[in-house]
Amino acid sequence: ATVRISDDALALACGADDVAAAFERAGHIVERTSSWGMQWLEPLVEIDGKGFGRATPADVAAIVDGSSPLGIGTIADHPFIASQQRLTFARAGKTRPTSLDDYAATGGWKGLARAREIGPEATVEEVVQSGLRGRGGAGFPTGIKWKTVAGAKADQKYIVCNADEGDSATFADRMVMEGDPYMLIEGMAIAGFAVGATRGYIYCRSEYPHAIAKLQEAIRKSAHLVHPFVLEVRAGAGAYVCGEETSLLNSLEGKRGEVRAKPPIPALVGLFGRPTIVNNVLSLAAVPYILSEGAQAYADCGMGRSRGTMPIQLAGNIKHGGLYETAFGITLGQLVNEIGGGTASGRPVKSVQVGGPLGAYLHPDQFDIPFDYEAYAAVDALIGHGGITVFDDTADMAGMARFAMEFCAVESCGKCTPCRIGSTRGVELIDRILERAPRGRDTVETLPQMHNAPHDQRSLEDEIVLLEDLCETMKFGSLCALGGFTPYPVMSALKHWPADFGVTQVPEP
Ligand code: NAI
Ligand code: SF4
Repeated sequence: ATVRISDDALALACGADDVAAAFERAGHIVERTSSWGMQWLEPLVEIDGKGFGRATPADVAAIVDGSSPLGIGTIADHPFIASQQRLTFARAGKTRPTSLDDYAATGGWKGLARAREIGPEATVEEVVQSGLRGRGGAGFPTGIKWKTVAGAKADQKYIVCNADEGDSATFADRMVMEGDPYMLIEGMAIAGFAVGATRGYIYCRSEYPHAIAKLQEAIRKSAHLVHPFVLEVRAGAGAYVCGEETSLLNSLEGKRGEVRAKPPIPALVGLFGRPTIVNNVLSLAAVPYILSEGAQAYADCGMGRSRGTMPIQLAGNIKHGGLYETAFGITLGQLVNEIGGGTASGRPVKSVQVGGPLGAYLHPDQFDIPFDYEAYAAVDALIGHGGITVFDDTADMAGMARFAMEFCAVESCGKCTPCRIGSTRGVELIDRILERAPRGRDTVETLPQMHNAPHDQRSLEDEIVLLEDLCETMKFGSLCALGGFTPYPVMSALKHWPADFGVTQVPEP
């Protein structure tokens, strides 16, 4: 029988090539497929639908003769897979990533064909009706963005795919690009057709060489199918802020990756000053399904204003890490404890950061909040790109708050003061808090004008108030999400784990 092994970067990092070579040496035909997304089981070997997890070359003989203890039964029936609602990741684990035959045989190009049948306006309307919101994090209605670009008059328009997936714990974009590149290409071609754009760019982070190679191969092979739409891949150079859409556009234009002030929005004045759709990989990848199955099929999933499914990425200190696509509304408790199986270390969960390095840390007390843009915003948290990082009780949350400030200081584009200077002052401030926290705090007198006082005369409480003040300034004074969201991890850490900052209760600013 044919042996199927993923050639996804994570599987490769876990030794998938060696396992594949061992099967070939033993005389088997090996097919390299996309990953099922059960990362703790990679390299996952599939024979006749049955899976064998964490295989090594030494396991080959036993897997073939049926005596291997690595068997997990039929992969599609595994609870981690069977409990998902995979609309975007429907092909994950099932097809060869750059095979046009596999793509066409599994419903590929049906969305583009339907778009061409119903025309540009109806295509935009379909995306509006689906309720799809920007999966990059901000959750702006995708259809409305398309409408804006469609309505703009210009000699040239562009479709730009934001594939600068820079958040911690995120890998869904990478899995789409490596595992199902034609789906992204089809989504972009539909967008181009809908708004009248003939050129598209995929801005992919350079840290994803496998994704870039697969995209280039897929673009070459499918050029005739998406004609007259022309697509190119551009590699970033490793700046987190280039995931912000306007600095991404600057970078694409060959300029320094610095944020542009909005307005004007890129939908009207984008790449090379032309109307441009900038959508995340996952937003564009959801489009072929919406067009082929209809807006209603997509909108039927989810809750409130969060329609459809979210490819959630489980990572950090978690037993069963991987890609879990499900309708909005699932709780963090279900995701972390039931699906993820708790921490990998076996220790109690202390905190969970949702939405990357700019996302809030959620406390286990908040585990019943449904996964929904509005529900998260209501508790000063964000869903972001759907990455979830789990920490056990050994995590130092003041240290994590310091990391957020340090990350912002390193990645700041430098355009605005609250972020450029505030983040560095934030690191210093948290260092002073950490220095002071374990010592006798009552000996230092609070001075009336504490903000101007030399910091060695300020109490721990004063320093914390100053940190809160700084966070306010960064939140409301920063030009983009990097400076504007850094206060979220900092303030949530302080709010839920004051003891890690040396206080029993957060002082009122
Ligand atoms: P935003 O709210 O300013 O804009 C969201 C999108 O809607 C943008 O593309 C914007 O151009 C567009 N838009 C706004 N008004 C529009 C209108 N009237 N017509 C058409 N389009 C319109 O948010 P921003 O700054 O783009 O993103 C912030 C988010 O990014 C954060 O919420 C965070 O979750 C997320 N983020 C994601 C990361 C990742 O790696 N995926 C990393 C860091 C942050
Ligand atoms: Fe640049 Fe930071 Fe200002 Fe964003 S918030 S524009 S990254 S300096």
